Amino acid sequence: MMNVLKIYSAPLQGFTEAVWRNVHSTVFGGVDVYCTPFLRYEHGEIRSKDVRDVKHESNNVENLLPQIIAATPDEMHPLMELLANEGYRNVDLNMGCSFPLQARKKHGAGLLPHPDMVAELMKATTGYPDFTFSVKMRLGWESKDEWRALMPILNDTPLSHITVHPRLGIEQYKKAADIEAFAEFYAACKHPVIYNGDILTLEDIRRIESEFPQLKGIMIGCGLLANPALGIEYRDGRELTDRELCRLVQQMHDAMFCELSQRLQGSTQFLTKMKPYWEYLLPSLPKRLRKPILKATTIEKYQSAVTEAFKGDW
Ligand SMILES: Cc1cc2nc3c(=O)[nH]c(=O)nc-3n(C[C@H](O)[C@H](O)[C@H](O)COP(=O)(O)O)c2cc1C
Repeated sequence: MMNVLKIYSAPLQGFTEAVWRNVHSTVFGGVDVYCTPFLRYEHGEIRSKDVRDVKHESNNVENLLPQIIAATPDEMHPLMELLANEGYRNVDLNMGCSFPLQARKKHGAGLLPHPDMVAELMKATTGYPDFTFSVKMRLGWESKDEWRALMPILNDTPLSHITVHPRLGIEQYKKAADIEAFAEFYAACKHPVIYNGDILTLEDIRRIESEFPQLKGIMIGCGLLANPALGIEYRDGRELTDRELCRLVQQMHDAMFCELSQRLQGSTQFLTKMKPYWEYLLPSLPKRLRKPILKATTIEKYQSAVTEAFKGDW
């Protein structure tokens, strides 16, 4: 079978920032587009951490898609200015974030029950003729039919694609992704569609690919944190063995370790950043090897626990 889908790395705040993206693309690759976690304008400014994440000098991946979150054209503007100054010509609008703090401000999925606000944002895209816009969204905030009122607005806006995570905002990440509702969205949308949600294996990619032959791509978040080889497995049509995966994950981990230990001050900052990856990494790693990594309180304990895990004799 020909591989036609584009593989998108999903935005994951705290995880898929520049260090992860750069190292992932060098060690693994197999991802066509890396999406940045959302940038936001808050209290009259853009966080310097977010600005750094989209600076060209922070990034060595070819296809980077920056994402912004905004409820109004006024909030969108400073973010667009930053991206324009950085030379970007593409941007993804977040209409899917379910974090209550964001949704309460009608950001992300909190925007979905408000077609008038979505229409304002879509209208505002015409003010940036040099940019290509895309949207990442859920089906709705509390009803899986909310997207229906938005579809005419979205269909009338020039967008490169829409990524759909077929859950509701109130569900956060609980419940299974709603494939039937996704199928309805896919049929009604005139833009290229990207599927996102619960893709953990090569077989999952193949299943979605065969069910939705007109898809533009698949966006993978947690699945790519767990198995960073998913993109190359799809490209090469073969799953890596646990041993092969373990070797490459070790390379990726060591490169991130090196980079982050130079940037972050002190072991607490470093461990706070690094340990959450191990909630996902190497799903077949036995609990007895994962637990000491997650519990490590010093870099020495962390390193020794990680060395045990990478021996790969599990
Ligand atoms: C910790 C975390 C952070 C996330 N950050 C973002 C984000 O910045 N922008 C966004 O559009 N989605 C964000 N998401 C949602 C993911 O991009 C994705 O839609 C979701 O995890 C479902 O895909 P998956 O099952 O492949 O992980 C986040 C999800 C998680 C768990």
